[in-house]
Amino acid sequence: MTIESVELKRDGRPIYRQIASAIEDMVQQQQLLPGARLPTHRALADSLSVTVGTVTRAYAEAERRGIVESKVGSGTFICRKDRPAWSFSHRTRQDEMNFGYNVPPQLDRAELFTQAVQQIASHPAELNELMLYQPPSGVVQHRAVLADWLQQHGVSANVDRLLYCSGAQNAIQLCLTTLCRQGYTVLVDKLTYPGLLSLARQLHITVKPVEMDEQGMIPEALVAACKQYSARMVYMMPTLQNPTTVTMGEARRRELIAVCRQQQLLILEDDVNGLLPRHRPEPLVNMAPEQVIYIGGLSKNLAPGLRLGFMLLPESLYSRIVHALQNHSWMISPLLTAIAAILLENGAANKVLDSIREEMESRWRMVAEKLSAVELVFHPNGFHGWISLPDDWSLSEFMAASKTRGLELKSSELFVPPGYPAPSCVRIAVSAPTSTAELEQGCIQLADLLANPPSSAFSP
Ligand SMILES: Cc1ncc(COP(=O)(O)O)c(C=O)c1O
Repeated sequence: MTIESVELKRDGRPIYRQIASAIEDMVQQQQLLPGARLPTHRALADSLSVTVGTVTRAYAEAERRGIVESKVGSGTFICRKDRPAWSFSHRTRQDEMNFGYNVPPQLDRAELFTQAVQQIASHPAELNELMLYQPPSGVVQHRAVLADWLQQHGVSANVDRLLYCSGAQNAIQLCLTTLCRQGYTVLVDKLTYPGLLSLARQLHITVKPVEMDEQGMIPEALVAACKQYSARMVYMMPTLQNPTTVTMGEARRRELIAVCRQQQLLILEDDVNGLLPRHRPEPLVNMAPEQVIYIGGLSKNLAPGLRLGFMLLPESLYSRIVHALQNHSWMISPLLTAIAAILLENGAANKVLDSIREEMESRWRMVAEKLSAVELVFHPNGFHGWISLPDDWSLSEFMAASKTRGLELKSSELFVPPGYPAPSCVRIAVSAPTSTAELEQGCIQLADLLANPPSSAFSP
């Protein structure tokens, strides 16, 4: 087979992606070798009976996946293997329009990180220090920079109660493993973060849902759940809830805190999305530092690859959680917290956060227009939206049909505790597509799919 004879399918998958995937397959099967030159855009367009623009997009997609490189004036070539040993193409095959994961939009962070790494490299004595074991609570100077940065963003962070960890997921894990025993019950929103559900399953911790409304968890329902299940902990995401996008107003926050104080419930406040909105109410931890474990991270607002999260803990729990972190991994890499501290202090993290906000605002403007006929809720700075399916679509049929069309969305089933019913809704991660063109293409396909439910006609 040659690239000129690839068979293209008219099955709804974008043609340019099919061509890029064909090149990828041929490279894997060594039908195209490193250094091989691909046909010109015009020649391939003629051979495949597609437009030159489609081939241009296909080559750009292949370049994005790290398979080809274009050299101005010479053409497009299969990448040579003489890359540095540590380099990799992080792109897996992506035939699907990825609306699946709540990842930050892809921005070029290379320069900001280069500056931070160069700064470390130009101080050999300090670099040598970073290569040593440090206390499990981390380097206090790095924590102090984080505390300052959180304060700038409205979180009353106290350096003595702050702890870096390996992402917010690790923070949740440290809390559950330290504070809950097998068989304990944790209360959650009736639609909640799948990472918590999965962890609870692994740890044999019971999770029970609490009814929500458009302001989030309902205080009266929380009281009732406390009475029904003798729970000691409640997990909530007061800002930009995953998956419903709800942000609790201040009054609701205060009511819930009052219930938790009265019921002696410890609150796990997951605020991973909390810094994304330009304006938001105060986090719960500011209102009740003794009642709340505040969990945040740098994945959504700086770079998930840094793998850094953090916790702000009640004084009474700090040493227990530090001890758990020590048992788990001794410490968080001081090299990573040093890079984070530089970026948080020199304004780079705020720059990235601002560009993420702007990017999401522009993406949502486009999505809102393309999906104007769809029942969709979203926040203009958030990554995800929540779609209620039209009555003519069942959830299972819609999930199957969207998969066939190459659209990856998340079913509401992933967000409900085991054994509870899932509403007819799906989550769309608008931040995930790698370009605006891809996002637009996906929205057009999604709008078309939602508007064309399966025929309700049936044969007797
Ligand atoms: C609500 C929520 N909490 C925690 C996490 C985990 O984040 P991290 O990458 O910091 O581990 C995620 C990731 O998507 C999330 O959506």
